[in-house]
Amino acid sequence: REQDVVVVGSLNVDLTAAVRRHPQPGETVSATALSTSAGGKGANQAVAAARLGARTALVGRVGADAHGADLLAALRADGVETAHTLRDESESTGTALISVASSGENSIIVSAAANARLSPDDIARARPLLASARVVSVVLEVPVETVCAAARAARESGARLALNLSPVLDLPAEVFATADPLIVNEHEAREILQRNGSQLPDGEVAHAEALREIGARSAVVTFGARGSAVAEPGRAEHVPGVPTEAVDTTGAGDAFAASVGWRLSRGDSLPEAARWATRVGARSVQHPGAQPSYPTLQQVLDEPGLPV
Ligand code: RIB
Ligand code: NA
Repeated sequence: REQDVVVVGSLNVDLTAAVRRHPQPGETVSATALSTSAGGKGANQAVAAARLGARTALVGRVGADAHGADLLAALRADGVETAHTLRDESESTGTALISVASSGENSIIVSAAANARLSPDDIARARPLLASARVVSVVLEVPVETVCAAARAARESGARLALNLSPVLDLPAEVFATADPLIVNEHEAREILQRNGSQLPDGEVAHAEALREIGARSAVVTFGARGSAVAEPGRAEHVPGVPTEAVDTTGAGDAFAASVGWRLSRGDSLPEAARWATRVGARSVQHPGAQPSYPTLQQVLDEPGLPV
């Protein structure tokens, strides 16, 4: 297979304001800094995987505007294949308005724009690319029918589907059941279980197991500094976190999910993949921005972290 990881998902320009604390409703606060960078959960995953050395492509849509051109150029500069990253003539490029507080916590408003026009037809056209992938990583912020089409195409072509269900939405059971793994954070895990009428579990590992019980083939649940939990047939375990001083957590989940995809494409087990992903995620939160903070493989190896 020619590609290690093919990502299906969103691209955004991130406009990030650094603030001491987030504004309350009706309140105005001053930013201490303002920056523009390449983001979007799909593009973030593609860039994160490519920097780690994975052969990566992105299926997505930007507008035919200057922001779209910048995002495409950024992907290419990182070696991401963009033949199926389309320019939409009738919509503008997706934008995320992000504020990052001095605690490192962010809040994000996303305007989907061209991302909302990524269609099942686009997936059909990208089929040969999806069929050339070891792992297809599907990210949201694109229409649910497109997510479903991508999941089905991955399954039919024998690629392993990593599904980052962030933000949470309801998927047909048959699509949910192809997630191998489903990757979510603890809040998303609880929301999925709640929507399913399941009881909320106690303990990290129980969260991942509960997602398997409601149909996911395997699951990874992230708990920030508390690490993550993985469950796959025959095994479930907790993977410890790496203590860090978080500067900006924006896109850390995307870096984590991309690293899982990269390691699975290399034949790692899910717990091994989660250990690598923890190191990559931990490094990304120590630097501002999403894509600007993603490390190369060498930078991960140079960082004192967990033995892999
Ligand atoms: O997950 C982080 C990403 O969410 C940001 O890059 C922003 O674009 C939003 O999509
Ligand atoms: Na970061």
